[in-house]
Amino acid sequence: MASSRSGSGYHLGSDPEELERLGRQGRAIAPATRTLLRAAGIGTGMRVLDLGAGAGDVSFVAAELVGPTGAVVGIDQSQDAITTARARARHHGLDNVSFVVGDIQQPAPGGPFDAITARLVLLYLPDPAKVLRTQAAQLRPGGVVAPIEVDLFSGGPRPATPLATRLLSWQAEASDRAGITHSLGPRLWTLLCEAGLHPLGMLGMQPHFAPGDPDGPALMAGIIRAMLPVIEQTGVATAEEVGVDTLQARLSEELATFEAVFAYPQLISAWGTTQPAERTPLTAER
Ligand SMILES: C[S@@+](CC[C@H](N)C(=O)[O-])C[C@H]1O[C@@H](n2cnc3c(N)ncnc32)[C@H](O)[C@@H]1O
Repeated sequence: MASSRSGSGYHLGSDPEELERLGRQGRAIAPATRTLLRAAGIGTGMRVLDLGAGAGDVSFVAAELVGPTGAVVGIDQSQDAITTARARARHHGLDNVSFVVGDIQQPAPGGPFDAITARLVLLYLPDPAKVLRTQAAQLRPGGVVAPIEVDLFSGGPRPATPLATRLLSWQAEASDRAGITHSLGPRLWTLLCEAGLHPLGMLGMQPHFAPGDPDGPALMAGIIRAMLPVIEQTGVATAEEVGVDTLQARLSEELATFEAVFAYPQLISAWGTTQPAERTPLTAER
């Protein structure tokens, strides 16, 4: 069981294994994330707020996009996550990014910001529209809100394989029973509207991992390991059925047998502003 689960109801905790998983995932989906943030207009000189920053991976992509004249503030409720993110920022010599501990359901300190992002965190929150509305108040006029979420069933091995298909259905069923919105990505445009924002554009990106690339099975086994307490507590499957200790090896073997490419679930962003504005072209870069 993850050791740092907080009182806010977040399901995955932030023990060292989970923070390492976030780092591996962060590296694997950084190119897709960079494209989405660029499409949303995040660029040179901007001040960016990253909600639910975890081990810092989205903040690091944003820091690269805004450059030395910009700044990024990552916020997370987990002290362990923030400590890890700060250490990684120091290691990479990034001095335009800082991290603070806080609950993203409360207004973030340090504004005003030019842009707000949040990757793979809104799905765990009971009222994500309220979070976006609250944080959008920290934007300068015309600033942009650009959350990123997935469409779970768009992911998995191609061709589909038996074990991976079973894992995906366990993940989805446990999420449904625990109140986790596993496929929030396609709903982000509507969510922006519910938050009182004016959507400008929407884009999906889908990283694929070649047969034999260890990232594919590692990412899938990693999220199942992180979700194991939820899978068990919701009665979807037992620890014995999941067999988490051998899961990555069994997935690797299965993907090799089927010569399967592993498709990460499509990462989707919709972005919008606090004021009505022209739709942005998908290639918009600042
Ligand atoms: C799945 S991780 C994603 C981390 C990061 N955004 C990424 O994509 O790598 C979700 C993060 O959101 C944080 N989180 C969850 N609920 C939160 C809340 N109410 N306030 C602040 N952080 C929260 C968790 O501590 C965790 O680090």
